[in-house]
Amino acid sequence: VLDPAGCAPAQPDWRSLAVTVRGCVACAELVETRTNVVPGVRPDSADVLLVGEAPGAQEDESGVPFVGKAGQLLDGLLEEAGLPRDRVAVANVLKCRPPKNRKPTRGEVARCRPWLARQIELADPVLIVTLGGTAAEWVLKPGVRIGELRFADVHYAGRRVLCTYHPSAAIRFGPKGQPMAALREDLARAAALAAELR
Ligand code: URA
Repeated sequence: VLDPAGCAPAQPDWRSLAVTVRGCVACAELVETRTNVVPGVRPDSADVLLVGEAPGAQEDESGVPFVGKAGQLLDGLLEEAGLPRDRVAVANVLKCRPPKNRKPTRGEVARCRPWLARQIELADPVLIVTLGGTAAEWVLKPGVRIGELRFADVHYAGRRVLCTYHPSAAIRFGPKGQPMAALREDLARAAALAAELR
């Protein structure tokens, strides 16, 4: 049985990791409930990596990250921010959808961790943008708060990290809510920061 901790570091490139992770059976429950594993996408010219939480229903169906409602909002905001999609790689903390979109458990995050850690090495982004609490916690530690991190000087493995809200939070609080305004502003800052760092 494929063990992520042994297997992920051995992957030579993003594409082989994407193939290999599809055979992951580290989380017994998720293996039973998933339709597709969702490794992530990385255009050749991408140098910014967005990190989400976990696939939702549409992502589980299609095998592609951020294609549902949150993804559509994200697409629009990235375009507004001037971050073209071909410069942006996208991956999630969990590669499999938790049943009924429940929060990933600590154990699931820990078991899945080597995959994203290796993806970050392979994608070699100038900037990592975490979307929502689960991704910010993955980079930092459990219990962090987005509102306090947005302007903080965060790094992961020597790389700059910008922490912002998840597009689902922006949808939940509505078009006039604070998360929407913050996400819009933060993605614009991410575009500027990436231009500065590359
Ligand atoms: N939410 C996420 O965090 N990731 C996806 O891929 C889709 C929705």
